[in-house]
Amino acid sequence: MAWSPRIDQVAPFRVMSLLETAQAREAAGHDVIHLEVGEPDFPTPEPVVAAGRAALAAGHTRYTPAAGIPALREAIAGHYADHFDAEVDPRRILVTPGASGALLLASQLLAGPGDRVLMADPNYPCNRHFMALAGAEVDVVPVGPESGWQLDAGLVESHWQETTRLAMLATPSNPTGHMLDAGQLAAVAETVAGRGGHLLVDEIYQGLCFDLEPLSVASVTPDAFVVNSFSKYFGMTGWRLGWLLAPEEAVEPLTRLAQNVFLAAPTPAQHAALAAFAPDCRAILEERRVELGHRRDALLAGLSRLDLTPSLPPQGAFYLWLDISRYSHDSQAFCQRLLEEENVAITPGVDFAVQGGERHVRIAFTTGVERLEEAVSRLERFLARQ
Ligand SMILES: Cc1ncc(COP(=O)(O)O)c(C=O)c1O
Repeated sequence: MAWSPRIDQVAPFRVMSLLETAQAREAAGHDVIHLEVGEPDFPTPEPVVAAGRAALAAGHTRYTPAAGIPALREAIAGHYADHFDAEVDPRRILVTPGASGALLLASQLLAGPGDRVLMADPNYPCNRHFMALAGAEVDVVPVGPESGWQLDAGLVESHWQETTRLAMLATPSNPTGHMLDAGQLAAVAETVAGRGGHLLVDEIYQGLCFDLEPLSVASVTPDAFVVNSFSKYFGMTGWRLGWLLAPEEAVEPLTRLAQNVFLAAPTPAQHAALAAFAPDCRAILEERRVELGHRRDALLAGLSRLDLTPSLPPQGAFYLWLDISRYSHDSQAFCQRLLEEENVAITPGVDFAVQGGERHVRIAFTTGVERLEEAVSRLERFLARQ
């Protein structure tokens, strides 16, 4: 059968076939350590679950307005005021089915045929695919430790072309866990504004940071499009809830788009998420952030014993981007063998990087310290055989 040529722009997530193998090995009785998936082993915080149950019991199961229930848009605006010193009009917030829904809206609004989009390489691959599906051309800019694994103002300036319309950042980044600070964000925003372009910032790992204070581009400029989610910091991956903070003039066309492509975000999830900002839930989430920091430190300590450390320690998210070129230039085969021989599942860099992905892997520190230490021991045994 013939499909739309657009579909050829979308590469498969190679980690999914790895996950399948991992699950098959588990079913066959092997003790697999999962360091491949983008979600920690924490359940959704109980106050959110309780609010979700109450929402179902109260019959909150019908469509909401396309941009979300007003109470949640207000709560999200309150979150920016409380934690990021940013005054945000709740009408500028659209509640979406995950950050993925926000990325769909933003890409359709901001990028189209003939437009070029700048983003860092490595990056979260779906971002590239959303832009390609919108018909835009993505220019990936190789980044490394010199720019903190991020697209900085100098790189944006030097890669901007006449038809570039949009620069996209992600902080903390998936897969490197690196962040831009407020000064760097302001510099990129200024460069993009100087070129008459748009700035889109994926802040889905906001709040999950260990060295710097969490920050938002919303504190720096009202002109950026900001993607966020309840998936990661709030521990709600399966509830499928996120948001897009947009400049005022973009709200009407975005709402029109939302009305057409998904009608509204899941209603019970929206009501449940109201509980996510309350102090009792916040206390649970902060404990988890601290625990993730311990996990990062334990993994870094274990890897340094193997003389295998990332160029810069991750500052946030729950990923570590590791150069394995001493052992392999085929990250996919490396990950496959590590799984088959030692039952440790990690993600090949080729999923994230157009350049250099074959000599990198992403390790997610989403399991407890003991399991991470066991994974490092298994990795040590594996590397000794290379
Ligand atoms: C950088 C980044 N953006 C967006 C998403 C999509 O998240 P969700 O749709 O679950 O909110 C992910 C998921 O892993 C991600 O890593």
